[in-house]
Amino acid sequence: MTEVIAVVSGKGGVGKTTTTANIGTALASMGHKVLLIDGDVGLRNLDISLGMQDRVVYHFLDVMQGVCKFSDAVIVDDRYAGLNFLSAPHNANGADIDKEGFRSLVDSLRSHYDYIIIDCAAGIDDSFVMASLAADRAIIVSTPELISIRDADCVAARLEGMGLTNVFLIINRINIDMIKKGDMIDIDTIMNTVAVPLIGAVPDDSAVTVSNNRGRPVVLSTKLRCGMAFLNIAKRILGKKVPILKDEKKGLFGLFKR
Ligand SMILES: Nc1ncnc2c1ncn2[C@@H]1O[C@H](COP(=O)(O)OP(=O)(O)O)[C@@H](O)[C@H]1O
Ligand SMILES: [Mg+2]
Repeated sequence: MTEVIAVVSGKGGVGKTTTTANIGTALASMGHKVLLIDGDVGLRNLDISLGMQDRVVYHFLDVMQGVCKFSDAVIVDDRYAGLNFLSAPHNANGADIDKEGFRSLVDSLRSHYDYIIIDCAAGIDDSFVMASLAADRAIIVSTPELISIRDADCVAARLEGMGLTNVFLIINRINIDMIKKGDMIDIDTIMNTVAVPLIGAVPDDSAVTVSNNRGRPVVLSTKLRCGMAFLNIAKRILGKKVPILKDEKKGLFGLFKR
């Protein structure tokens, strides 16, 4: 059965777009049919992370308004034909989007895909509501900073209020050296603050910035620990048992005691 996943956060710049590009690529690399939708109306950039910016002609609002057909707007990845992308309008406001219309569009696409993943704008406004209403599951992305963690907790409460209880947390940009020195909040403290199960933790790695600039998600380089972390998250989405305690000796995952 198709699953629609909204990738959300309270604070901006925490890695939602990076996460969407990587999880989508990972799922497609494992043979699944995946549609990534940029839900960041007005400030889209998932096309860049996927290296598709020169191929965007239409966006999801065009499809909703009948300007074009879905098949005209969808972009097929060069690496994996199972990875498809639908852009966001850049010249609209989230408030202008008919949220029921968006949900209908997403529902009409379910039969074509195994996973539909929506990359949201930060916060709890229009993009968040639009995507969350259409979703079966939400993944909250947070960095290990108090500001981001508190916002993640607020987002979790909002999702619960909307009746979406299938919610998971990714902690992104973990700097193990800073945690060891006591300069960064450790995972246990985060898990005690946000009452949402953890689905993965991603190290901070400058390779992510390079990969976003090149439009080549890090998950394509599984020798990188950040790439492996995204691949493991994709496997957990598939329901595979990939223990977070794995890789203990290398330090990062040893922080998990769950
Ligand atoms: N694990 C990571 N390590 C290093 N840089 C990262 C990591 N995840 C994201 N970034 C960088 O952080 C910035 C924001 O990421 P992005 O995915 O655009 O966040 P959001 O979509 O939440 O605004 C980008 O410059 C990106 O390259
Ligand atoms: Mg983004």
